[in-house]
Amino acid sequence: MRKIGLLTSGGDSPGMNAAIRAVVRTALYYDMEVYGIRHGYQGMIEGDIFQMKTTDVANIIQRGGTILKTARSDAFKTDEGRKAAYDQLQKHGIEALVLIGGDGTFRGAVEFFKQYTIPAVGLPGTIDKDLSGSDFTIGFDTAVNTAVEAIDKIRDTAEAHDRLFVIEVMGRDAGYIALNSGIACGAEDILIPEIMTDIEDVLCRIDSDERRSKSVHILVVAEGDEFGGAAEVAKRIIERFPKIDTRYAVLGHIQRGGSPTYADRVLASRLGYAAVLALRENKTQVMTGIVNGDITYTPFQQVIKTNAGISTDMIEMIRVLSV
Ligand code: F6P
Repeated sequence: MRKIGLLTSGGDSPGMNAAIRAVVRTALYYDMEVYGIRHGYQGMIEGDIFQMKTTDVANIIQRGGTILKTARSDAFKTDEGRKAAYDQLQKHGIEALVLIGGDGTFRGAVEFFKQYTIPAVGLPGTIDKDLSGSDFTIGFDTAVNTAVEAIDKIRDTAEAHDRLFVIEVMGRDAGYIALNSGIACGAEDILIPEIMTDIEDVLCRIDSDERRSKSVHILVVAEGDEFGGAAEVAKRIIERFPKIDTRYAVLGHIQRGGSPTYADRVLASRLGYAAVLALRENKTQVMTGIVNGDITYTPFQQVIKTNAGISTDMIEMIRVLSV
């Protein structure tokens, strides 16, 4: 195949640009043409497609965001939308696709390829790390480091005021950012969507910490936790312990931006390079990943996360370490 289409879709993640660079440069090296599709599946539907040159990806390895832009497309969830997208690929003579994105991107891919036959390879690009088939996803390491930096700063002011802070990190359906930033910041507790938490238990632990006069108490909450995020958890704490000086902070989209860490740049470069080689070897409808240091290829339908992978042992560990 000579002409490949390349897109980023869903929430952006730091390192997507490094992945774009690797795909474009590898494809050009092997005499393929690369067509950038702006704004993900939405741009595919609208035919927002342009031929990419090696200079288009110069000086982007260190930049957050995605030069191809991204979007969440409702139209691509419809038969009409997917047909329009396929028609655009035909019109531009695109013979294969490279898709960079997260859970929604691969769900979209599975539907699309049920109806249309076109070789494709995916790369896991999401801060949430909510995909199977790779130990890490592009952007996760940067997002966790950003969260850690922010939480450390909040700890300084929390300690100065003897306050309890509830800090909300991203992750609508996934608690990996909360779990890892919580461990790294010495949080007293974390609340994540994968594991049901009894709020009474959380309040009990606060009570015993209070009796021991802990000067700082940090709770890290994933945005998708069952209680509805940091504001709601803080409200419950204030209702029960009006004397504890409690605040909450929502870290929000700062976790999606910024220059990617070295780990995300290397991951993105390896996966982008591997994706083009996979297409050349006719390994298609798979996502490239890295498992135990080695490149792997997992069929699209198997990468969609089932929420396995977070064990209650880790939560227990956080509570033991914060005693
Ligand atoms: O890309 C993943 C993610 O950042 C989730 O953690 C978060 O729930 C969601 O995207 C937010 O999406 P949006 O920026 O579209 O509001």
